Amino acid sequence: MERTISTDDLSSHADSEHHGSAVRLENVTKRYGDDSLPAVDDVSLTIDPGELVILLGPSGSGKTTLLKMINRLYEPTSGQIWIDNTEVHDLKPPQLRRHIGYVIQQSGLFPHMRVADNIAVVPKLLGWDKKRIARRVDELLALVDLPPQTYRRRYPSQLSGGEQQRVGLARALAAEPTTMLMDEPFGALDAITRAHLQDELLRIHRQLEQTVLFVTHDIEEAVRLAQKIVVMRDGRVVQYDTPVRIVTQPANEFVAELVGADDVLRRMSLLPVDLAIEPLAHFAANGVPEISRDSYLRDALSQLVESGADHLVVVDNNDHPVGALSLESIQRAAAPPEHPATPAAVAD
Ligand SMILES: Nc1ncnc2c1ncn2[C@@H]1O[C@H](COP(=O)(O)OP(=O)(O)OP(=O)(O)O)[C@@H](O)[C@H]1O
Ligand SMILES: [Mg+2]
Repeated sequence: MERTISTDDLSSHADSEHHGSAVRLENVTKRYGDDSLPAVDDVSLTIDPGELVILLGPSGSGKTTLLKMINRLYEPTSGQIWIDNTEVHDLKPPQLRRHIGYVIQQSGLFPHMRVADNIAVVPKLLGWDKKRIARRVDELLALVDLPPQTYRRRYPSQLSGGEQQRVGLARALAAEPTTMLMDEPFGALDAITRAHLQDELLRIHRQLEQTVLFVTHDIEEAVRLAQKIVVMRDGRVVQYDTPVRIVTQPANEFVAELVGADDVLRRMSLLPVDLAIEPLAHFAANGVPEISRDSYLRDALSQLVESGADHLVVVDNNDHPVGALSLESIQRAAAPPEHPATPAAVAD
């Protein structure tokens, strides 16, 4: 973890192997005007290398401002931001672009440039040779599930919204950043395309293990993607915790309302079936409906109701049974929280 980004470091990553950076904010405040309220207010936050962290909060709570200070589109009014052991303030623009990828809602692609050239922007800036760039472009298009032959010569206007976001993602990944900043990247997409891209992001994150900070308004998206969630309100961090704890132990009424903690069905759609698993030994497994371990309690409830079975067998990704669910175990797991609870980790 003790790592300082140096210029040497820029060339030391092999194509196949790289890992995320630690991102640390110390008492970071941003005011846009002298007399205005801070958009980000004394935020201290540590994100571990390789973690996928979601910033969740209502409009105006400071999420975009926080992201843009990490890649220095904005400077903090006070406080410090570190990527590993380097203050971002000390990174020169090419190092910054190399180490921090950035994806936004409107993809930000250059309309007059072909897909391949869009993806090649940062590698060109870093002076890679043509062959290496061409190889990298094809590799990235394949990674985001766009066949290179079909897509490399198209212009952004010849792509669907979802395809544009995939290219935006490929572009941000081009120089193997150790940190990815994603500001509502899937916000403008329809639900199905969005779910696809969420799956892709999870797959790519598992493969590349960069540190990801991902902004969303959408609690379902947050729970689906996050290893940890930062809940923001009025520029401050109100809770920083795992998705399950955010839903089951909201730090205060604000978080409880944000996650709809009082609505049992909503809670069920946010809580993984893992929470309700019982040992298989209690049940007969033959002819019993199966449910994937990646599902949510609400899926399990629907399946119980539809099948009329009194329990379900939970299977892992290899179809191995790992336990069972019953109506009782689901009800127990989805019981409402006793909020406001004592949170495990509240910043400041
Ligand atoms: N360039 C700017 N100049 C002045 N004020 C700004 C600027 N950008 C943002 N703000 C203000 O800072 C606060 C935080 O804005 P920010 O864009 O960070 O919120 P957000 O959480 O990203 O909201 P949204 O979910 O709507 O994108 C808001 O009150 C906003 O009006
Ligand atoms: Mg924003």
